[in-house]
Amino acid sequence: MDYPRIIKGRLDSFRVKPNIPDYQKMRDNFRWEEISSELAWFDNEHINIGHVAADAHLETDRRNKKALIWESQRGEVEEFTFANLAKLSNKFANILVNEAGVLRGDRVFFFLERVPEIFVGILGTLKAGAVFGPLFSAFGPDAVRDRLFDSKAKVLVTSPSLKRKIAEIIPGLPNLEKIIVVNRKNDVLDADDLSYEAAMERASENFQTVHTNKEDYAIMHYTSGTTGKPKGAVHVHNAVIGHYATAKYVLDLHSDDIYWCTADPGWVTGTSYGMFGPWSNGITQFVYEGVFSARQWYKMLEKWKVTVWYTAPTAIRMLMKAGDDLPGKFDLNSVRHVCSVGEPLNPEAVMWGERVLGKSIHDNWWQTETGSIMIANYAIQDIKPGSMGRPFPGITAGIIDDNFDELPAGQEGNLAVRTGWPSMFRTYWGKHDLYQSRFKKGWYITGDRARTDDEGYFHFISRADDVINSAGHKVGPFEVESVLMEHPAVAEAGVIGKPDPITTEVIKAFVSLKRGFEPGEDLKEDIKRFAMKRLSMAAAPREIDFVDSLPKTRSGKIMRRLLKAKELGLPLGDTSTLEND
Ligand code: PRX
Repeated sequence: MDYPRIIKGRLDSFRVKPNIPDYQKMRDNFRWEEISSELAWFDNEHINIGHVAADAHLETDRRNKKALIWESQRGEVEEFTFANLAKLSNKFANILVNEAGVLRGDRVFFFLERVPEIFVGILGTLKAGAVFGPLFSAFGPDAVRDRLFDSKAKVLVTSPSLKRKIAEIIPGLPNLEKIIVVNRKNDVLDADDLSYEAAMERASENFQTVHTNKEDYAIMHYTSGTTGKPKGAVHVHNAVIGHYATAKYVLDLHSDDIYWCTADPGWVTGTSYGMFGPWSNGITQFVYEGVFSARQWYKMLEKWKVTVWYTAPTAIRMLMKAGDDLPGKFDLNSVRHVCSVGEPLNPEAVMWGERVLGKSIHDNWWQTETGSIMIANYAIQDIKPGSMGRPFPGITAGIIDDNFDELPAGQEGNLAVRTGWPSMFRTYWGKHDLYQSRFKKGWYITGDRARTDDEGYFHFISRADDVINSAGHKVGPFEVESVLMEHPAVAEAGVIGKPDPITTEVIKAFVSLKRGFEPGEDLKEDIKRFAMKRLSMAAAPREIDFVDSLPKTRSGKIMRRLLKAKELGLPLGDTSTLEND
């Protein structure tokens, strides 16, 4: 079905003039150097994301402007100015250096709920010259252990209940020297732990931010691939130029905006655009701690008079499901600009936005590895529902064939980006060969399949690999299979993404049982619970099928492609490498 193009009209028809008045002109004249000169550098070589996001505002009229408005699930509100954030993050940096012995380049990981302390802590970590890594609070012990072990994290910042959840893995982490516990509910802490509150109380509010080199490592986000456990994609302090520019020109942030990014800081969207993008622009952002509820989300938009909203397709589809008459019960007039990322945004969802919300939803595309938005629909440009938009000015994206040569418009191929943008990842932690294998002939190969049309809009087709997209959470099948195989009944497991109308994909596992175990519903439920406890809700299989054996290549690799084709009733394709029975 063809969907009508959404015509944006003339520049003077906009309530607030977009930051990009003319896309093509912007592209022709874009210089990363000019953008970088808008940020607070120490000198030509030295910049620090924590400084740019907080302290840089102290000498401006934004000093006492609200940086963060936080509302908890229970409705408590806490507010922080840029000056508050600067002071508190200084204190946290002092704790790291003086009480936890953190040195430049050490890894400090956060396994914490969406509370203000995670924002303060991450800024403080960056100002201390250390590298931060966030872990989604819904992760179970196995997921946390793999990431802390691989990164050799020295410090973990967590809460009493999350610490209890992962207690069993802590003795197995030889590099972990200190646990800082954020104790909002006044629990009794373990003797070795450092209380965040007590340490903040005694820490000095003065700290000399480390003058990090622009290429010093700053950020580590774990991301899934087809093979092996998740890998730590590493970003440098220079990445903030990309966060800043894309937040300004794609999210179209203006100084009076109230901005809400619904992503959790455990994921890259929640740091690039839930911290650094808006704060480097000096923008007030709202953060809601609570879980999704359609009514509650509309209420938050209304209550805080949100003007710019960055969310995700699964959330939009859940809002659609909650009914067309619900948004009408709230005053959503303040909302000027809506963006979405992380999964394919169906054209129906874009049309729903126009019809029911009266807002255009601007899909954009990027990855953990790219660090910032690469392809987007801009406030000024017409939207073609079903398209992710056009490359960010300063970014060259292309569709290439298997020889890494560019394909003409209309042909499906591998989505690739010309190397060299500021927020490009600099390595996979401890796996530099794997990192280098992602670059060919001057392109970064993204692992997605796509095509362009004759106006240069990009259209997403699929992943090129087996990575599963479950409500925007990228899940590597290997990680799930490894956990399933820890279950006493499981001999082998193969995991695929099964299409789902709300969450893009759900996780489906094919499991063969060890001798002596009988297939049955109870066992299925037991295996599901087992996986949920160790990984997270998004990564645990929703469906399990018991099979006698799994299709494998002659070299013993599970052929997930075949499992998926069978599941969907599709042609099996090339099976020449299939092992013979
Ligand atoms: O497959 C693409 C999908 O999400 C992947 C990146 O996921 P992650 O590294 O977790 O990054 C999260 C920050 C966005 C991509 O390789 N993806 C992302 N945006 C879109 C998308 N798929 C379709 N349409 C999008 N707009």
